[in-house]
Order: sequence, then structure tokens, then C-alpha cells
Amino acid sequence: MKSIICENYKIFIGENILRNIQLDSYKKICLLTDKNQKNNIIDYFLKEIKSEFDIIEIESSEINKNISSVLNIWNFLSQNNYNKNSLIINLGGGVICDIGGFCASTFKRGVDFLNIPTTLLSMVDASIGGKNGINFLGFKNQIGTFKNPISVYIDTNFLNTLETNQWLSGYVEIVKSALIYDSDFWTLLSSKFYKNHNINELIFKSLNIKKEIVEKDPFDKGPRKILNFGHTIGHAIESFYLNKKKKITHGKAIAMGIIMELKYSRTRKKNEIIKYIKSIYKEIEEVDINHLIKYLKHDKKNEDNLINFSILKDIGKCDFNNYINIDDL
Ligand SMILES: NC(=O)c1ccc[n+]([C@@H]2O[C@H](COP(=O)([O-])OP(=O)(O)OC[C@H]3O[C@@H](n4cnc5c(N)ncnc54)[C@H](O)[C@@H]3O)[C@@H](O)[C@H]2O)c1
Repeated sequence: MKSIICENYKIFIGENILRNIQLDSYKKICLLTDKNQKNNIIDYFLKEIKSEFDIIEIESSEINKNISSVLNIWNFLSQNNYNKNSLIINLGGGVICDIGGFCASTFKRGVDFLNIPTTLLSMVDASIGGKNGINFLGFKNQIGTFKNPISVYIDTNFLNTLETNQWLSGYVEIVKSALIYDSDFWTLLSSKFYKNHNINELIFKSLNIKKEIVEKDPFDKGPRKILNFGHTIGHAIESFYLNKKKKITHGKAIAMGIIMELKYSRTRKKNEIIKYIKSIYKEIEEVDINHLIKYLKHDKKNEDNLINFSILKDIGKCDFNNYINIDDL
């Protein structure tokens, strides 16, 4: 088992690692997961962890990362006398990490929570960094908190049941971390087809990049914003699809966002990056920017009519706080 030490919590990575989790100090434990049990993640968890706990299952997917799911969870915690000696375990993808972290950090002004991410995306991104958010009025991540989990257990056995589209969704965040921070990592990634990499190695590298960036700026006031590369337009695309029948994964929206945001970049490597992303996401298509304006106007980083982009200067180098007038997009 490998580990990464963050400011006030630890991340553990490996296979069959859940049995190392220590839960003895908690009087009450609640396991939060989603209802999509085709993946048998609860069965695997129960096999590894012998403690007693309550289980809350919420509807799966982005559309349910909302205030009604939060109200149901707060209700359950309140009716079952959860308090400062309790623990919430978030077992699932980024939606579960986000909602669970939000509920835990707000209930009784904060109870401990532990993240056990089960999708590649949540392993490399959503389970660490301390941001916990929900969507509101059809716009992405409008309400949220900053609070770190007490620890994160990344058991890569969960990846065995992941569908290809979910796998790719996480892979895009790995690609993003290389693009913004580490050109050698990009060289490694782009040297092979995504399936031929050692995934544990990629997760470890990617987490270390996010950790380093977050520790420079935990509350997203400056340099942490480079993690938003591809996400300003990517989140607008996700919001656009929230209101549509056809659904899109977070990573696919970010892949489109990266391609569209590269228009504002002067790097000579644009075509190389776009070619690699398109080799992974074969049927990727851009969304007309005019459909996204309404959502871009709600981006948290905006100043008046100016949209705040993180722009790739070169592979491994990204710049933040680049403002573009909404009329010039
Ligand atoms: N807070 C942050 O820092 C942060 C960072 C990145 C993304 N996010 C958020 O994460 C969310 C996306 O996360 P996601 O892509 O994991 O989506 P998700 O949580 O909706 O999971 C995707 C699907 O995979 C299923 N699933 C989970 N584990 C599985 C497994 N082991 N095998 C098979 N299926 C499994 C889930 O049931 C779900 O249907 C978005 O809401 C995004 O905004 C947050």
C-alpha cells in the first residue's frame, strides 16, 4: 500500500486496503452510497469492513447532486442522533464524495467524513482537495464548503467493474493534471494508449500533482485555479446537459472543455493535445458557445461580464486569472 501525506489527512492507495481502516473511535457510523448497485461496491465493502453502521443510499448520477438529496441525508442524521462523535463514510464516485462531504461538513457544523472513491474520476480528483459541492437551480457546484476528509482510501479493486465511459471520464483528469503541471508525465501518458498504462502509477502521480497545487492555495484564491483548466467551459457543458435527456460524464464534458479552452492558448502543442484527446474520445463534439453563455455567467470565478479562464501556456505550464469578456468568446 502506498500513501500520500496531505496537510491534515492521509491518502492510502493500493489493492485490498479497506481492511486497514480504523473505525473504533466512532460511536455511530453512516455509510453513504448510491443506488446503482450493478457494481457490487457495497458487497465488497461489507466483506472487508466488519463494523456496524447505518446505510443511506441515494439516487445515482449528477442530477441528484442537489439540495433534496442533502435534505434527506441531514434528516436521516438528525433523526438518528448523529453528532460530533459520528463518522460518515462516502463510498462511491464524485457525486457521493461531493454530497457526502457537503452534508458532513455542514451537519452540526461539521462531523468527520472518510472518502472511499470507487470511480477513477473520484480516485484522482473528487475525493481529495477539500472541495465539497452541490448543484443548485440547474447550475454546477453553486453551493459548497471547503473541508478535508479524515482520510481517503483508494482501493483500486473497485476499478474492475467500471464501464469504459467512466474509465475515460477519470482518465481525462489525469491528462489535465499532466498538461497543467508536468510535461514528463504528459510524455509518459501520450506515449501509450490509455489502457496500456499501469493505472496505480497514474493515480499516484496525478494525486501528488493535485496535492502540491492544493497545498499552495487551499481556498482557491490563486494558483489552485490552474486545476480549472478545461473546467470553466467543461462545467458549463455539464450544466447544459443537466437539463437534457441525453447525459454526459464529467470527464467527457471536461475533455470538450479542454479542447474549446485551447482556443485561447498560444501553445504550439495545441494540435498534439487535441489529437491525443480525440484518439481517446472518438465521438467528441464541441457545443456551440452560444448555448453555454447562460451557464458561463454563473461561474464562481467571474468578475462582472468577465469570464475567468486558466490558460495553458505550454505543456506543463498553466496560467490563471485570464479574463475574457463574455461578448468576445
Ligand atoms: N469536489 C471536487 O474536487 C471534484 C473534483 C472533480 C469532480 N467532482 C465531481 O464529481 C462528479 C463526477 O464524479 P463521477 O464521474 O465519479 O460520477 P458518479 O459519482 O456519478 O459515478 C458515475 C457512475 O459510476 C457508478 N460507479 C461508482 N463506482 C463504480 C464502480 N466501482 N464500478 C462501476 N460503476 C461505479 C456510479 O454508481 C455512477 O452511476 C461531478 O459531480 C463532479 O462535479 C468533484
